[in-house]
Amino acid sequence: MPSPTLYEETLTRIDALLGDDADWVSAMATVACELHHAFDYYHWTGFYRAVTDDLLVVGPYQGGHGCLQIPFSRGVCGAAARTKQTQLVPDVEAFPGHIACSSTTKSEIVVPILTPAGRVLGVLDVDSDFPDAFDAVDQQYLERLCAGLGARFSRQRDL
Ligand code: SME
Repeated sequence: MPSPTLYEETLTRIDALLGDDADWVSAMATVACELHHAFDYYHWTGFYRAVTDDLLVVGPYQGGHGCLQIPFSRGVCGAAARTKQTQLVPDVEAFPGHIACSSTTKSEIVVPILTPAGRVLGVLDVDSDFPDAFDAVDQQYLERLCAGLGARFSRQRDL
């Protein structure tokens, strides 16, 4: 069950760890690690980077195997990048075109990382082996975290 207190503590710790000079890759690696170890229902936690305006490539992650490339036209990650909207999926079997990198995943949340100008830098993807594991609390805090990353790396070109 998502806890606002645990999210507040985790996001505060991430901010402190990133400081003022973290680069894009070390920031993604640090965020994936801190989130994955803070929440027991997170079974895959990681980033896909928008290397072109229609292709996502996997970045730092925690957990089992992550698919390497996802076109914007496919999967939950593609839908988040294409629509620039968070995808909260209580049952991945019911999501048309869901890409199963792991056979144990039951539910998922994917949040786009947008610059203040609306450019897609990538997405934060979290999978759970529990059905219906994510709710509005997860969405609220993960969107806050991703907005911060989007603002911090708005000048980032090579993703
Ligand atoms: N399930 C995602 C693919 C990435 S794995 O979850 C790591 C999707 O449908 O886009």
